[in-house]
Amino acid sequence: MSDGAPATATQPRPSRAPEEVNPLVEGLERLPVHPTTLVIFGATGDLARRKLLPALYNLAHEGALPERFHLVGVSRSDMPHGDYREMAIDAVRQFSRREPDEKVLQELLDEIRYIPGSFDDADVYSKLSDTLDEFDEKTGQALNRAFYLSTAPAFFPVIVKALGDHGLQRHGDSDVRVIIEKPFGTYLEEARALNHEVLSVFDERQVFRIDHYLGKETVQNVLAFRFANGMFEPLWNRNYIDSVQITAAEDIGIGSRAGYYDSAGALRDLVQNHMLQLLCLLAMEPPVDFSADPVRDEKVKVLRAIDAPTPETVPHMAARAQYGPGVSGGDPVPGYLQEEGVPEDSNTETFAALRLHVDNWRWAGVPFYLRTGKRLARKATEIAVTLRPVPHLAFQQDGSLGVRPNTLVLMIQPNEGVSLSLGAKIPGTRMRIRPVQMEFLYGTSFLSQSPEAYERLIMDAMRGDATLFTRNDEVEAQWRVCDPIVRTWEQTAGPLPQYPAGSQGPDEVNALMLGDDRWRAL
Ligand code: BG6
Repeated sequence: MSDGAPATATQPRPSRAPEEVNPLVEGLERLPVHPTTLVIFGATGDLARRKLLPALYNLAHEGALPERFHLVGVSRSDMPHGDYREMAIDAVRQFSRREPDEKVLQELLDEIRYIPGSFDDADVYSKLSDTLDEFDEKTGQALNRAFYLSTAPAFFPVIVKALGDHGLQRHGDSDVRVIIEKPFGTYLEEARALNHEVLSVFDERQVFRIDHYLGKETVQNVLAFRFANGMFEPLWNRNYIDSVQITAAEDIGIGSRAGYYDSAGALRDLVQNHMLQLLCLLAMEPPVDFSADPVRDEKVKVLRAIDAPTPETVPHMAARAQYGPGVSGGDPVPGYLQEEGVPEDSNTETFAALRLHVDNWRWAGVPFYLRTGKRLARKATEIAVTLRPVPHLAFQQDGSLGVRPNTLVLMIQPNEGVSLSLGAKIPGTRMRIRPVQMEFLYGTSFLSQSPEAYERLIMDAMRGDATLFTRNDEVEAQWRVCDPIVRTWEQTAGPLPQYPAGSQGPDEVNALMLGDDRWRAL
């Protein structure tokens, strides 16, 4: 069938949506959720206070939580229910994306329960079990249960095992789910062992491994962009695409997270999870439908097609560095080694860059460049897809040095949208060309604040939809790519190259580029 052929009987033309209507004027669409008790382990931690409690508040504000919803916090600090309630209220007031309505806030937290204790203490789980039963009795039904593991990763296996030992992994005909934060393992072996422990207590369909990037609207838009527009898919392959560059740059330093960050580093913190997910969404084949397994099957195929690095190839395809002192937001800031809690001889990278190849029919020969770092010039997460140059440039004699291959940039944050660079004629008598931008911006088209990633993910986990969560084989496939790099780096002694805080990153990273490829300016 030729391009632009009319729709056939098996291909009905999609009906036209009324144009110029912003679907968000009526508020965000939310799907119904079964009555649930949500238990947060690590309830006094940073993530719970900054993200989970504010996300729950915003869901309550929009009427998206089930009518019967209960919240239980479990953590080591010893305090009565009332004090925890106050702490939760403060967290929402401080971190919610919208000013809290006191009535909604009070209602949400009115009956919150807090169970203090260490995660390996059997008593904690007996109390938890009683509290869960109490909520069931009060509501007169067996509520679904969701256990959110927002603790240090060392406790994931401890909590999972204890839940199993206390028979809390099942609840009659109701659904029980476990939501597990990152990092999921620190090496391939560890991720495998953790999967093994988790799956000896829960079934895979009960497990929701969080990668908060998947909850971002703009990340999901990568799929909408690719598979809802006929225009790009014919170009989406090695014949038309020259290279792909994925950037997750941050201007912030490590703040007060030295304890975690120094044992993780940029590769584990952002590449092993968020950045490989972005690569998968960009490179995967169209799934049969957008439900959990078809989508994850396709992502796993991409990960398996990536050449696994070896100790010999790592120095040629991966680079790392550390930020030194510099200037950020106009203020002088310390280098990584001077941050509080960082050992002065630390070899932990705060910047990591990779060149990967997805060795399959669609992508053979196309380099995928990934880079991430703390204390760079600005915060920017984007995927830039550069098309091949035109085969012959007829305008050269007219000084059209500005002609560049088309680049499509999917901007994840902060200026969420999509931009396409095109060559256009500069007005005047001569045929001179320069790049111009064609842009779609979320803020302008939808005039509404996007929900936080955690709002979407908490809801999906409570609904049992695992599409935006990482499956067991997927997390192992991610580690297959990152584990050899982590290990090779660990065995390479010596101080790391430094880049000044607030800069574009280290010069060493340029060596990863093939041919005329260049890193995009931040
Ligand atoms: C987290 C990392 O997963 O993602 C942090 O642990 C990082 O170090 C954060 O700052 C970035 O997330 P976002 O949503 O701000 O891009």
